[in-house]
This record gives sequence, C-alpha cells and structure tokens, in this order.
Amino acid sequence: MRRFVDRTIGGALLALAVGAAVAQAQRLDDGLARTPPMGFNTWNKFACNVSEDLLKGVADAMVSSGMRDAGYQYVVIDDCWQVARDSATGRIVADPQRFPHGMRALADYVHAKGLKFGLYTDAGRRTCEGRPGSYRSYQIDARTYAEWGVDYTKVDWCNADSLNARTQYTEFRDALRAAGRPIVFSICEWGSNRPWEWAVGVGHLWRTTGDISDRWQSMLNVADASARHALVAGPGGWNDPDMLEVGNGGMTAEEYRAHFSLWAIMAAPLIAGNDIRTMSDTTRDLLTNREVIAVDQDTLGVQGWLAAQPAPDLQVWMKPLAGGARAVALVNRTGAIAEIAVEWSAIGLRAGAATVRDLWAHRDLGRKVNRFAAQVPSHGVVMVRVTGAVAR
Ligand code: GLA
Repeated sequence: MRRFVDRTIGGALLALAVGAAVAQAQRLDDGLARTPPMGFNTWNKFACNVSEDLLKGVADAMVSSGMRDAGYQYVVIDDCWQVARDSATGRIVADPQRFPHGMRALADYVHAKGLKFGLYTDAGRRTCEGRPGSYRSYQIDARTYAEWGVDYTKVDWCNADSLNARTQYTEFRDALRAAGRPIVFSICEWGSNRPWEWAVGVGHLWRTTGDISDRWQSMLNVADASARHALVAGPGGWNDPDMLEVGNGGMTAEEYRAHFSLWAIMAAPLIAGNDIRTMSDTTRDLLTNREVIAVDQDTLGVQGWLAAQPAPDLQVWMKPLAGGARAVALVNRTGAIAEIAVEWSAIGLRAGAATVRDLWAHRDLGRKVNRFAAQVPSHGVVMVRVTGAVAR
C-alpha cells in the first residue's frame, strides 16, 4: 500500500508519498500491539519501591477505576523486582521479601482480574538500578517469563555500552519467540542507537527519547523528539515517547490534558505512571476519556504529526483516522490563552463543511465551513474530531 501523507516541516505543508510497503513488510505480525499498548508501569511514581502488595492494589484499581474497561491492559513492574541470579540454575530471582509468593502467583492474580502482566529487565549486565541484567541470559529469562505467565517485557539498555543494540535486541526478540508465549517486547534504549531505523520488526514499541519527567517542558521535549519519526510507526511497531506522568502532580490539569492528547495524536503507548489506587477523579476522568483513547487506538494505526503552526507555539496536530476523519489537537504552548484555528486544507480535507466534535467536552459542535477556531487555554489543548470530505 502506498499512501499519501501531509507533513509539516518547519511550518510548510508537504505531501509525501509514503513507501509504507517498506515498513509494512518488516513489521511484526504476531497479533500483538496492533494498536499502541495500554497499561500501567511502576517506574514514574514508585521507582524501586515495588512489591506484591502494590501490584495487587494496582490491579484492583485498574478494575475499580474503570481503566481496564477503558482499554488499559498491561500491569508492568519496572526496575528493582529482581535481586540475584541463581548460580546453579542461571534463573533470575525475584526479591523474596517484596514478592513473597513469587512472580507466577502475582501473574495469576493479575490475569484473574482480566489484565496482563509485565516485567522489566535490561539487555546489559545490570539494570539501571544495578540489579542483575539479562546479558548472556536472554534465553533462560525469556523461558522463565513464559513460565511465569509474563505478557509484556520492557528491556532497558544500561550497562550495555560496548554492545550493539540492534544485535542484542534482535537476539532478545528471538529468545522470546523461542519461549513460545506471546510477549509484547518494549525496547528501551532511549533513541540512542536510532531505533526508528531498525526496531520495526524487532520490538512492538521502542523508546525514542530519554526519560520523561513530570514537567511541562520535559513532556514537550519528548513529544517533539518522538514526532520526528512518525512515518515508521504502525500496527505492530510504535514509537514510544515514554510513559505518562498524568496525575503525578508536577503539571496542571490543563497540562496533563495536553500531555494525554499529544500521546493519543502520536499513537503513543498509553502507559499510566501514577498511583492509580489513590488518584483524583480529575486524573481518572482524564486517563479514561474514551473518545481520546479511541484516537490513540484507531485501527488505521497512523502516528499523527504537527500539521500547522499558525504562530510561534500555537500548534495544530493531526492524526488521520480509519474512515477518513481527522483527530486534531490545538495545542497552546504559550503563557496566555489564545485562539488557534485549523484550516481544512491543513488536515487533508476538502474545502466546505465538515462536522466537528469536541473530545474533551464530549460535545458536537456542528458543521463548520473551511476551518475551526477555538480559544485554547495556556499550556492547554482543544481536541476535536473532524469529519469531512477527504481531499484527493
Ligand atoms: C531507565 C528507563 C526508565 C526506567 C529506569 C529504571 O532510566 O529509561 O524508564 O526503566 O531505567 O531504572
């Protein structure tokens, strides 16, 4: 399939014929991550403070908060669950104090809630927190995870400097395949070895940037970096600008709404990183906005992009959706409220009338001719779905 995609570079609209066949041919086609993975990961909020109790509480909250029913699936333990490698068997050992019933029992608990279970490791000798890594143990670790019922693994890149990322991650992919259990493979080498050039067909998602932090500017930085690689994303392989900070307290509700909207427009994995056991109603409503989630999970599987920038820091992001509608995020990066307008011509729609629905207000705004304009709060977003005639 060749498709035409409008792209903006430096504010100028370009029409590129995408050689989608190239990426499509190499794409993982194992039925996993056909849309961007959704779930929860411990790192952003809890760092090394992980335990069986925490994870059980999180699994419970995934259900009671409505997150599971909104599409969140994977409950992932990040760094620090592992304490040693058994010298006799070569098997990785989970912290017996923090996980007294072991990982198999925890996976069973998570599965019984209708969720899936994930674990973190590192392709190098040690994890970023100095725990035993998987280097030279990819096969046994993949087999162990399969036995434990692991459905997702995030593989980091600390203490791996002398190694070749593409080689190591390919070997890890093959170890997972040989283990015989479907396991989503999340590559985490922070974009340092240009994964957008080789990770399609190796992992189901790959980090494109260094770690996000819970600040507006950090969120924008990783979004901008990940946006550069939009053309390689698609079903089975996604750019990962890192996990969500929504609800962690370092940004305002408006800023978190912009964060979540940008991740959805970019078809980014939606991995919550807050304490979902105790989150506010505002945070819960934000994370479970089904209309915005539907943009992220749209089956066309195209990563959206910056379509226009009518003024410095006033942006129009757009993502084509299955059936021809466009999701549009009007993003105000300035310090004051501002009007932002989107012209149909900038989002590949024909001039004339198109219908507009506000995805945060959950309101139909009616038919708009040629363009739509909205007042957008400072560090905020207005996100709409526009249905009109696709320009050919
Ligand atoms: C790296 C990763 C993070 C997290 C930590 C854990 O920094 O990028 O997402 O996994 O390691 O130590």
